[in-house]
Amino acid sequence: MSPDSSTASKGLEGVVAAESKMSFIDGAKGILEYVGIPIAALAENSTFEETVCLLWDGKLPTRERLDSFVAGVRSQYALPRELIDIITSFPKSAEPMHVLRTGVSALALWDKSPDEIEPAQVRLKGKNLMARMPAILTTFDRYRQGKEIVPPDPSLSFAANLMYMLNGEKPTPTMEKALDVCLILHTDHGLNASTFAARVIASTLSDVYSAITGAIGALRGPLHGGANEGVMHMLNEIGSIENVEPYVKKKLEAKDKVMGFGHRVYKTRDPRAMFLKGFSRKLAEQTGNSKLYEMSRKIEDLMDKEVGSRGIYPNVDFYSATTYHCIGLRLDLFTPMFAISRIGGWLGHVIEQQHGNRLIRPKADYIGPHDQPYVPIGER
Ligand code: SDX
Repeated sequence: MSPDSSTASKGLEGVVAAESKMSFIDGAKGILEYVGIPIAALAENSTFEETVCLLWDGKLPTRERLDSFVAGVRSQYALPRELIDIITSFPKSAEPMHVLRTGVSALALWDKSPDEIEPAQVRLKGKNLMARMPAILTTFDRYRQGKEIVPPDPSLSFAANLMYMLNGEKPTPTMEKALDVCLILHTDHGLNASTFAARVIASTLSDVYSAITGAIGALRGPLHGGANEGVMHMLNEIGSIENVEPYVKKKLEAKDKVMGFGHRVYKTRDPRAMFLKGFSRKLAEQTGNSKLYEMSRKIEDLMDKEVGSRGIYPNVDFYSATTYHCIGLRLDLFTPMFAISRIGGWLGHVIEQQHGNRLIRPKADYIGPHDQPYVPIGER
């Protein structure tokens, strides 16, 4: 078969590879719903813990179910002592996403039945992983700064405990809500690359730790979850409102990708970006970061003028960068924050994949030569 007659769909664009009851995305209308509930309603009214329950149970939890889930997560915030010792032996220059991926993989070693894939066990392992991922990140971040490691506080919400372990002090209600909103908005999003990676691994009946480790590896790429850090690097590189236009125009002329824009599915504004746009404006004003927000707005307006007609609009990573910065997160913690949220979606998809599983194994069109002789090495 020659390359131009191949039937391959590059990047699997447009290919329906699974059914899911979690996220509904209408890329033309800019709609995102979790189990039928619009994402803005969840961001305004729900919590990350409740949103994960919604995605995993397929319905909003009762007070009793939510209290039981939250208690279960909070009881698992802490890491095994030996894992803390390992994390604090890593090079301080290590990249946090590599640390997070390594820590998740390592947690399998303390699980007496890591390969158990019975649904209830998968949920339990997923809940424990969700609970412990923040501590993997914060333990490393405090250690690399030469600061005392802050043990988790099970009296705090998921978002508040994460910030408490990171900063050594409890966040204000505003900051807790800001992080909780970001966690809700990033929890699930159909068959994005990292979720698909998790499903492929789960389809071989491999274990949860392997599926989540593989998903973290996929998420860190700059075309995917790594874009939020790319947006912050871009904002730092631009430096001032005056430099926005020359910088963006130069990028577009060189056909370079402007981080935080474009999407395989959304060909209009990503509803998560639009929610975060308003949220980050308020947060920027409250935290003295208005310049960052104004620069983002100018980039958005310019991109709208230059490439908006081609369906290239801000995606979730564009305004999440400013939001994370205003919360006080160090830049290289942005993508780990995405992973700490997305385990909600990844685990939900692992559970869906295992229900009526079939090994994921697509085809490739062979476009190489045929009927080739074996030439002895001395004659090559
Ligand atoms: C996430 O899938 C998900 O749901 C992901 C996610 C989730 O919640 O899991 O939503 C999270 O990953 C959001 C995306 C974050 N990535 C970025 O912001 C990186 C920058 N964006 C691009 O790399 C790109 O838009 C992708 C990767 C996101 C989507 O790329 P596609 O669908 O493969 O489209 P493409 O690269 O083929 O681009 C089509 C055209 C090209 O121009 P031509 O070659 O046709 O002339 O659009 C242009 C691209 O050059 N284009 C851009 C652009 N994105 C696309 N041009 C400038 N800047 C951009 N950001």
